[in-house]
Amino acid sequence: MINRILCIGAGYVGGPTMAVIAKHCPNVQVVVADINPDRVAAWQSGQPPIFEPGLQEIVKISLGRNLRFTGDVDHEIGEAEMIFVSVNTPTKTFGQGAGRAADLQYWEKTARSILRHARRPVIVVEKSTLPVRTAEAMERIFKNRRQGQRFEVLSNPEFLAEGTAITDLESPDRVLIGGAETPAGQAAIGELVDIYARWVPRERILTANVWSAELSKLAANAFLAQRVSSINAISAICEQTGADILSVARAIGTDRRIGAQFLRAGVGFGGSCFQKDILNLVYLCEHNGLPEVARYWEAVVTLNQHQKERFVRRMIRVMFNTLAGKRIALFGFAFKANTGDTRESPAIQICQELLAEQAHVCITDPQALEGARQIFGASSDRVMFEPDPYKAAEGAHAVALLTDWAEYRTLDYRRIYAAMEQPAFLFDGRNLLDPEELHRIGFNVYTIGRPDRTSL
Ligand code: NAD
Ligand code: UGA
Repeated sequence: MINRILCIGAGYVGGPTMAVIAKHCPNVQVVVADINPDRVAAWQSGQPPIFEPGLQEIVKISLGRNLRFTGDVDHEIGEAEMIFVSVNTPTKTFGQGAGRAADLQYWEKTARSILRHARRPVIVVEKSTLPVRTAEAMERIFKNRRQGQRFEVLSNPEFLAEGTAITDLESPDRVLIGGAETPAGQAAIGELVDIYARWVPRERILTANVWSAELSKLAANAFLAQRVSSINAISAICEQTGADILSVARAIGTDRRIGAQFLRAGVGFGGSCFQKDILNLVYLCEHNGLPEVARYWEAVVTLNQHQKERFVRRMIRVMFNTLAGKRIALFGFAFKANTGDTRESPAIQICQELLAEQAHVCITDPQALEGARQIFGASSDRVMFEPDPYKAAEGAHAVALLTDWAEYRTLDYRRIYAAMEQPAFLFDGRNLLDPEELHRIGFNVYTIGRPDRTSL
């Protein structure tokens, strides 16, 4: 039985996952180690460095009891029986495979640290999303083991979504564990199954071989992102033909074989993983001599890019072909609601394109304003940051709603309209608001894949 777990990487995955494990396994010591001292200090103080509904409460349950955060990665490796590796695996920006392949430098450093500092048999669990057959590469590194060391590598990809991480972890659709088809591999799988089985029903814990587990994670994200690009592609047709994307999504989503989720058209998907994991899949296909399969998946990313460009192009067109000197209020900067995460947020590209048109951009967001400042704070004196959406819209020619925060539904749009330049434009990039109502107030309203409501 495992008594001591270490997780390397205290990010969006490592922190919440370990907090939930610690809650359900009070007799297991759970340590989360990270090289970023600010992140460690924040977690250890009980104020997580990331915004995630319900997270702080979960951390508080176990902090100081059986949950601890530390910067001393090497020492903790020596104490651990099971080590989750949950470091970042961004897209490579240099050399071979740049812009496609996963950058595995953080992951490999971790594998080498484990080899150097492990003092007992260890089960190493890949939690990060990694290219297929990475576990095998890890095993090759571990072949240089010293006497007394023994390593078993499992793949246990994480399927949580930001904004719902705690409910996803508490009640997952499935937990997937891949391991070697050897007696030692099966025993290691058994140890990890025993951990999850404390709160996840056994029938939802799936086991597989390692590379099936690794590929399942890339495939799941590719399928989800593909749905978003598919509905966004249909939204473009709606805008040309007068069909309404909400009616179309409802009509196709009621087919049980298709299902209703992930059919919300918008400004495109963002987040740290969809694009990175698809590009990783594309690279994998190219590497394995499957160019047609690579192009198929690449189209999901191309369409996503197109959706963002289309959004700005329409803004320019309907606002009399010029945005120069005009103030645009961006409602939302996070890549989705209920997170402060701005990684790959559609708002980044949209803001860049508006700035290229010489617009003045005022960004507001309930959780991601600091993230926005880090990206655009130093880049231009035409970007402003304003926590209050009413003030952000003051004197603006247009509001562009980019994140589906529920609070944007209940704002007083009469008040917003009255403080704006006329004619006032509202671009709802998430189909969050009632276009009829906004039009009655006086706005010229443009949505995604729905008929325009304008008085021009
Ligand atoms: P993150 O950037 O938030 O966290 C990674 C952490 O690892 C950082 O705090 C970093 O300082 C730390 N780190 C890097 N190298 C280290 C080292 N050598 N030793 C100790 N710490 C180190 O990333 P994340 O969003 O948590 O994602 C982690 C992995 O999980 C990625 O592979 C991602 O694809 C995958 N994933 C993410 C999500 C999500 O919703 N964010 C969901 C499922 C899977
Ligand atoms: C996604 C997956 O949903 C998780 O299962 C996975 O674990 C995770 O990626 C990961 O590997 O990192 P996440 O990116 O946090 O989770 O959030 P999603 O809810 O999937 O949304 C992704 C993007 O798609 C957001 O920008 C969202 O606004 C957009 N989206 C989603 C739409 O535009 N329409 C939809 O119908 C659904």
